[in-house]
Amino acid sequence: MLAGKRILLGVTGGIAAYKAAFLLREFQKYGAEVRVTMTPSATRFVGTETFAALSRHEVAVDVFNEDGVSESWTKHIYWGEWADIFVIAPCTANTLAKIVHGQSDSMLTSTVLAARCPILICPTMDGEMYESPAVSGNLEQARKMGFYILEPATGYLASGLDAKGRLPEPEKILQTASEIIKKHKIQGPLTGKRVVVSAGSTREFIDPIRFLSNPSSGKMGIAMAEAAHLLGGDVILLKGPVTTPVPDRILVENYISASDLFELVKKHADADIIIMAAAVADFRPVTKHQHKVKKDNGMPSIELTRNPDILEWLGSRKRDGQLLIGFAMETENLVDNARAKLTKKNADWICANSVSEAASGFDSDTNTIHLITNYSETVFSGIKQDVAKEILAHIFDLNQKE
Ligand code: CTP
Repeated sequence: MLAGKRILLGVTGGIAAYKAAFLLREFQKYGAEVRVTMTPSATRFVGTETFAALSRHEVAVDVFNEDGVSESWTKHIYWGEWADIFVIAPCTANTLAKIVHGQSDSMLTSTVLAARCPILICPTMDGEMYESPAVSGNLEQARKMGFYILEPATGYLASGLDAKGRLPEPEKILQTASEIIKKHKIQGPLTGKRVVVSAGSTREFIDPIRFLSNPSSGKMGIAMAEAAHLLGGDVILLKGPVTTPVPDRILVENYISASDLFELVKKHADADIIIMAAAVADFRPVTKHQHKVKKDNGMPSIELTRNPDILEWLGSRKRDGQLLIGFAMETENLVDNARAKLTKKNADWICANSVSEAASGFDSDTNTIHLITNYSETVFSGIKQDVAKEILAHIFDLNQKE
């Protein structure tokens, strides 16, 4: 039930911190990948090395690194986006109070603020503390704010009391976490919007073992799909025959040829936002031979025919309020050619990239995109995931709303 899921485990400074090590192992046993962030006081109960060794990953405690040079102070952003769920177990009364009031004095509390994934808080403390009006009030407030709360178990506590305050058994936390992952929807500017993104090359077969294609890896399209998902969109990724991994929180439908992609696009043509990042082949062989073309039968010639222009088809039937974002891959006259495509295909935006620009292109991890409308050009450069986020932030005007 947790296979392939990414779990951020937050450990705070209570005696039950040692149990978080068992919880981590349990998450892993079910196939989840776990990273750990601890509050400084949690490290007085269990060393970071324990969690680093078990998770096979560094453990984040302070926002600022001792060396002052690493980029690790931005981890709260990346880890918050990386995770499918953030489980804070145990969560002390102190950390609970900080969460409710938006404090960000450690990596753990900063990540709470930055996270887009669901957050499960497992309050764990002495029975009398748990019953106190302040803790009850904070728990109520946390629920209202959208945090998931797993009530503590009743039993023998470190103080000697037999009361409510124990960290629930790992199985209970596991089960709760997986139910939350299943039902949680990210709240963001695209919540409730259906977003369709196409990504990758197409294959146009000549015979059963040969095809015409291009080197598109799908990385930019997949980054766009993930960026839209992080903004709350209900994303469907139409993915070509590429090996680039897709985060498993994104729904995928696969295609091989341009005609397959066209059929999928027709099925989803009424989506609110359609992003055509696929590198669609413009031509396909007129005939696909049923058997392998043998070389001893002379030099074959391949007659080609035009594939449908899918973006143009979408543009010709665009409905009110629907947003069409196209891409353009150029080798010369980047902006002029992109603008011509914007008009011809009736798109709202064109993300133009040039194979000749440095650090851009088909299989690269980085890209430079010129975001084009009829009257504007904005340039974004960097790793494809960041560029994708910046493009959507620009299109949906998110930077103005801070
Ligand atoms: N596109 C499409 N269907 C096609 C070809 C392209 O939907 N048959 C879409 C691409 O997904 C992209 C945009 O149209 O969003 C521009 O693609 P590009 O390959 O840059 O340009 P083309 O339209 O093919 O034009 P040209 O080959 O003349 O550059």
